[in-house]
Amino acid sequence: MKISYYNGEFKNDDEISVDYNDRAFYFGDGVYEVVRVYDNAFFTLGEHMDRLVRSASEIEINGLDREKLIDIIVELKEKNSIGNGSIYIQVSRGINPRNHAYPTGSEPVILAYMNEMARPSHQMENGVQVITANDYRWLKCHVKSLNLLANVMEKERAVRAGAHETLLHRDGVVTEGSSTNVFIVSDGVLRTHPANHLILNGITRQEVLKIAEAQGLEYVEKAFTLDELKSADEVFITSTTQEVTPVSHVDGEKVGDGAKGRVTQKIQEDFNQRIHELNLVK
Ligand code: PDD
Repeated sequence: MKISYYNGEFKNDDEISVDYNDRAFYFGDGVYEVVRVYDNAFFTLGEHMDRLVRSASEIEINGLDREKLIDIIVELKEKNSIGNGSIYIQVSRGINPRNHAYPTGSEPVILAYMNEMARPSHQMENGVQVITANDYRWLKCHVKSLNLLANVMEKERAVRAGAHETLLHRDGVVTEGSSTNVFIVSDGVLRTHPANHLILNGITRQEVLKIAEAQGLEYVEKAFTLDELKSADEVFITSTTQEVTPVSHVDGEKVGDGAKGRVTQKIQEDFNQRIHELNLVK
């Protein structure tokens, strides 16, 4: 039996029910994070908690106690004794009868649970196919909001096309995937969209940029077009759960010769190294 956390209490999963007046339930009014655990240790937990507090304050959920969030996550892992997994944590604005305007005097409500999760080895080796589609999301994509309607609709578009991910673009300028960041390699230069309001500044994205810096690999945070995506030598997507996953096809056309590229391979190797070295709890 799994133990999860909701509104101040750890309980068995089958004893938890979400309050129907929780604003996360009917407005998606809140923010969230997903954190990986590898071999019993948290990966980049501090970075995820910083972003959670920042996302919350961007939507005026203020005063979150970062240390308390970490304590919940640490206790959740201990109670479930899962060595390799993912932890999902969300913060809702509160429990109140439905009313669009913010309620006064209600406390944020935290939900957290843990699942076993293996590393995506097959796709990290063989790559995935992606399609492209229009990015019609709101203009605060840097906030890791629970409101993911456009993202789920665009992921479903990929699934229906037999692909793994949908890469989004605004007027032909690529932003990110429905649940991932995207990088290209062209003429030996690594390139990804700048961290502004049009993308989520992924923790994995930031790890990849640190790796590029350490490798002395030339990189630039500059948006690229669909044409540049399709003519790139290498393309890969990143996220907490997808790690560094090569893209073999974009809209059915091969990227390079379709196999994982050399730059992607080296980044994966160093990312592995960081997983083994950087597993700090706080
Ligand atoms: N998704 N962009 C979007 C829209 C995302 O939803 C995510 C993460 C990322 C990558 O961020 P990070 O490297 O910090 O995981 C980029 C998570 C994993 C999810 O919703 O499950």
